[in-house]
Amino acid sequence: MDINNLKDREQNDFFHTYKRLEIAVEKGEGCYLYTAGGSKILDMFGGLAVNVLGYGHKKMNDAIKEQVDKYIHISNFFYQEKQIGLAEKIKTLSGANKVFFCNSGTEAAEAAIKLVRKYFSGSNKTELVSFTGSFHGRTMGALSLTARKKYREQFRPLLPGIKHLEFNSADDLERGINENTAAVFIECLQGEGGINPASKEFILKLNELKQKFGFLISADEIQSGVGRTGTFSAYTQFGLDADIIIMAKGIGGGLPLGAIAGFERVENVFTYGEHGSTFGGNPVAAASGIVVMEELETGLMSANSVKGKLLFDKLAAMKLKYPDKIKNIRGMGLMIGIELTFPGEKITIEMMKRGVLVNCTNENVIRLLPPYIITNNEIELFIRVFDEVILSV
Ligand SMILES: Cc1ncc(COP(=O)(O)O)c(C=O)c1O
Repeated sequence: MDINNLKDREQNDFFHTYKRLEIAVEKGEGCYLYTAGGSKILDMFGGLAVNVLGYGHKKMNDAIKEQVDKYIHISNFFYQEKQIGLAEKIKTLSGANKVFFCNSGTEAAEAAIKLVRKYFSGSNKTELVSFTGSFHGRTMGALSLTARKKYREQFRPLLPGIKHLEFNSADDLERGINENTAAVFIECLQGEGGINPASKEFILKLNELKQKFGFLISADEIQSGVGRTGTFSAYTQFGLDADIIIMAKGIGGGLPLGAIAGFERVENVFTYGEHGSTFGGNPVAAASGIVVMEELETGLMSANSVKGKLLFDKLAAMKLKYPDKIKNIRGMGLMIGIELTFPGEKITIEMMKRGVLVNCTNENVIRLLPPYIITNNEIELFIRVFDEVILSV
């Protein structure tokens, strides 16, 4: 597997939607990727928050193989044991009442938009609200919610009736929300936007306005959820009064899976045939997802807070050491952003040369989303390499 050969073929064959890394991955094990050329890379990005149990997790692989040997797909006309088992786990961990499975984050956002539309159908509540810096997906409904211009501007016309209010501005909430507001979509800890947490005051105001106007709140936990921040969903740590949770990425542990979970108010909105997905809740993905949930239940989720604190404290110490280079450290659990005073691409390249994969989002924020199985030694390794790179730039 030669990288130049792959690169030529990819350039020839694909729409150029992805800027790929210049490495050919041969296999993964634990928190490491191994390249065809024999390099070992510590993965602090975890497949963009997907590989929560790392690579080659024995229990997960066994569950997948066992399901593959039974059947890899049956239609959603059948009762499916793995789907039901996973829904039960998600309900227990999230406290929600009902679950619907799809295949990705953007589909989960679309399902939530439909749920909101149906809930308020025939009423004047038609407006949807999201926030500056937000990312909710790339299909037309989810893209219309996504506020970041670089993802949306070329694709107009988008869904009408969507307002993007200023994230963390209680005044803008007050100005923008009214009796026509149907739902608010929010990432309490924004991912693509640069690991930006909502303020207490902002969430309090949002909850207060919900009491006044009766809209629904959909918490986008696609990146921040599935235990990453130390609780199953990040929004619970913010005290948000959510009615809907949208999730994806980590719930399948690496297989395509998305879900929406709804609380009491919305639990009976959909009826037969009103929403569906051919592949949604695929049994192999669900079998994998059950292992993710079991591992969360047996301590992995709470350990994320402890590991995250270790990582955060070490980075905070580095910020003191390099105040001209590191502007801010933000995040919760194993979702951390290091805001630099300069563009971060150089850092990602230098880290990769030294065998550590990190991502840069929003131009100058180094984003860390490592697998939950990361050890203290691996955290120390990352810090050592990061210190070396920061010193050198
Ligand atoms: C917060 C958030 N919402 C939605 C999405 C879209 O998910 P997907 O790429 O699975 O469609 C993402 C993906 O990065 C995300 O981070």
